[in-house]
Amino acid sequence: MANNSEFSSKIGLIAATVGSAVGLGNVWRFPAETQANGGAAFLLVYVICVLLFGIPVMLGEFAIGRAGKSDAIDSYRKLSPGKPWWISGFLGILCSYLILTFYMVVSGWTLEYLYQSLSGELFTPIPGVEEGSNLQFADRMQEYVAGIWPPMVWTWITITICGAVLCMGVQKGIERVSNILMPLLFLILIILCVTAMTLPKASEGLAYFFHPDFSKITPDVCISALGQAFFSLSLGMGTLITYGSYFKKDTNLTKTAFTVSILDMLVAILVGMIIFPGVMSFGLEGESFGGSALVFVTFPEIFNRMWCPQLWSSLFFILLSVAALTSSISIAEVSIAYFSNHFKMKRIPATCMVLIPLVLLSALSSLSNGVLSDWTIFGYTIFGACDAFTANILMPLGAFIMAVYLGWFAPKGMMKDQLTNGGTIRNRLAGTVMFLLKWITPILIVIIFGASVLMK
Ligand code: PFF
Repeated sequence: MANNSEFSSKIGLIAATVGSAVGLGNVWRFPAETQANGGAAFLLVYVICVLLFGIPVMLGEFAIGRAGKSDAIDSYRKLSPGKPWWISGFLGILCSYLILTFYMVVSGWTLEYLYQSLSGELFTPIPGVEEGSNLQFADRMQEYVAGIWPPMVWTWITITICGAVLCMGVQKGIERVSNILMPLLFLILIILCVTAMTLPKASEGLAYFFHPDFSKITPDVCISALGQAFFSLSLGMGTLITYGSYFKKDTNLTKTAFTVSILDMLVAILVGMIIFPGVMSFGLEGESFGGSALVFVTFPEIFNRMWCPQLWSSLFFILLSVAALTSSISIAEVSIAYFSNHFKMKRIPATCMVLIPLVLLSALSSLSNGVLSDWTIFGYTIFGACDAFTANILMPLGAFIMAVYLGWFAPKGMMKDQLTNGGTIRNRLAGTVMFLLKWITPILIVIIFGASVLMK
C-alpha cells in the first residue's frame, strides 16, 4: 500500500479495518484476560471501555490520519508544525514494534496448530497420557510453547508470509482476502457457538461469562479491561492513523468506527460463549489451563467432541491464522508507512528494514516461554513484558496524549470537519465525541491509573 493510496471501496476499508481489529486479541487474549480478571465483571468493564474510550479514540485516530494524509508521526507534524505532538505518533510506532515481537510468536503457534489440524497430528494421543484425558491438549501446548525450534521456526514463517504480502502491497491482497474471510470467520464462530451451547455445563459457562459479580471490579480489572479494549480495537499505536490516511474524503468516519468496534466486540463475545462453556464442561478451570493456553487447549477439546474434529479444527485455525495475519500486517504497516514516507524509501527495502530485526527479537520472545524464562523484566518474561507494558501502559498513554491533543491543541475545527466530512454530512454525535475526547477520556485514564498505583 503506497502511502498516497486509498482503500478502493467502502466494504474493502471496513474489511481491512475489521481485519486489523479482529485478531489474536479477540480469540487468544480476550478469554485469558476475562478468566484472569473475574469473568463477567471484566466483560462489563470491557464493554464500557469500548463505548466510552474506544470509539472516540478510534474516531480521533481516523481524523488525524485522514486530515494529515500521512504516517503516524508525519500526520501530527503536518497538522501542528513545530509542536512536539508527533511524539505521540513516535510512541505509537515504538509500541507497535514491541507488540509485533510477541504477536508474531502467537501467530506462529496458530500456524503450527493449523498444520497439526490438517495433518491430524493434533488429535493423535500423546504416549503416556490417558486417551480422552483433559491433559491431552494442555500437555501438548505446554510442551510446544516451551520448545526451542518449532515455535521459533513457525514465528519466522509468519514473518516471511507477512513480509511477502507487505512487499506486494497490501491494498488489493488484504482488501480482497478480508472481504471473503471475515464473514467466514463469523460463520464458523456462530457454528461453534451453537455447538458449545450443547455442552453439558453450557449454562454454568454462560453464567460465568454474563453474570457479573460487582465486587470483582477493582482498579486493576479496569486497567486490564482498558488495555484489552485498546489492544482489541488496534488503538493507541498509529495503526488507525495510518489506515485513516488511506480513507477516502467521503468515508463516514463515525459509521466506520461503530461498525468496526461492534463487529470486534461481537467476535470477542462469541469466543467467550464458546470457550467458557467448554472450560466448565471439561473441568479446565485450573491455573495451567488459563492464560495464553486457553484457546489452544479448550478449542481442540471442543472440536474433539464434534463430528470430524480435524475438519473443524482446520477451518478454525485457517481463519484464526488469517485473522492473525491481517492484524500483524496492519501493525507492521505503521512502521513501513513511516520509513517509506519519511526516508522516501521504496516499499521493499522499508519492509525489510522493519521485519529483519524482528527475526531476532521475536526469537528472544519465543524462547522466553522456555529456556529463557529466567530473563525477567519487572517479574515478566520478555514475551509477557511486551504484552503487558504495551497494552496496559503504552497504548493508553498514547491515547491519553492524543485525546489531550484533539480536545485542546489540534487545529480549530479539524475534528468537527473530519466528523462531518467538511460539513457535507450531519453528525449528531460530533459534539458528544468531542466532549468525551476533551474531558472524559483523559480524566478517566488518569483516575484509573492513579487508583491502581495508590492501591499498590
Ligand atoms: N487488534 C488486534 C487484535 O485484537 O488481535 C491487535 C492489534 C492490531 C493491536 C493492530 C494493535 C494494532 F495496531
